[in-house]
Amino acid sequence: MRLDRFLSLHGFSSRKQAKKIVRDGRIQIDGEVCFDYTRSIDGNNKVFFDGKEIENLPYATLMMNKPEGYQSSMIDERYPSVMNLVPESYRKRVRLVGRLDNDTTGLLLLTDNGILNSRLANPKHGVPKTYEVYVNHILHPDLIEKCKQPLDIGRGDIAHVDELEILDESHARITVHEGKYHEIKRIFGKFNYDVLSLKRVRFGPLSLGELKLGECRLLTEEEYDSLLDLVHLQKKDQL
Ligand code: URA
Repeated sequence: MRLDRFLSLHGFSSRKQAKKIVRDGRIQIDGEVCFDYTRSIDGNNKVFFDGKEIENLPYATLMMNKPEGYQSSMIDERYPSVMNLVPESYRKRVRLVGRLDNDTTGLLLLTDNGILNSRLANPKHGVPKTYEVYVNHILHPDLIEKCKQPLDIGRGDIAHVDELEILDESHARITVHEGKYHEIKRIFGKFNYDVLSLKRVRFGPLSLGELKLGECRLLTEEEYDSLLDLVHLQKKDQL
């Protein structure tokens, strides 16, 4: 990646400002001042701005615990965008991996790895996603058997439930892998339940864990590698 792009992606400045910063001699690479903004940077280079190291991650992938009332979009529209919750240094860099409804909470992924993003979002890869759901009346145990069949959820869509567990009277955990529009609300709606609250707790191999509502964190290297594995991407192809 070119140095000017690297700098602007790391939230330092626009591409034009990045060029100026380089020409002004404020960037050091591996111990030497670099005046060439077209210079190529890879994951092994140590880049310093005014003597302070810039974290050189080849890719940034973040997990957010999305609160209610935020919209899965890049800009504010009817509701504030989830991007308001992303640390500034990553805001320009990452894109959303799929969407959650405005009133859904929980695990939302963001990445700047375009190939990974499109594979994770592609139903062909069937990434399992697990949700915890509260509904408006008591869940009948028959539902578990019923959800083992393909479910006609309207508008020509058939949903497939991987697993349904009833955790409490009106509280369930459900796993699906297709990502159809309003899928969980439509599955429960089919059986005359209204979803009162919906939280995504797992996305493929990742779980939300103790991440607080409204917070974001970078994936660990292990977590990132597990996503690459899931969609058959080689780490070496991603550098
Ligand atoms: N299913 C829904 O109905 N809403 C979501 O936000 C995610 C899955």
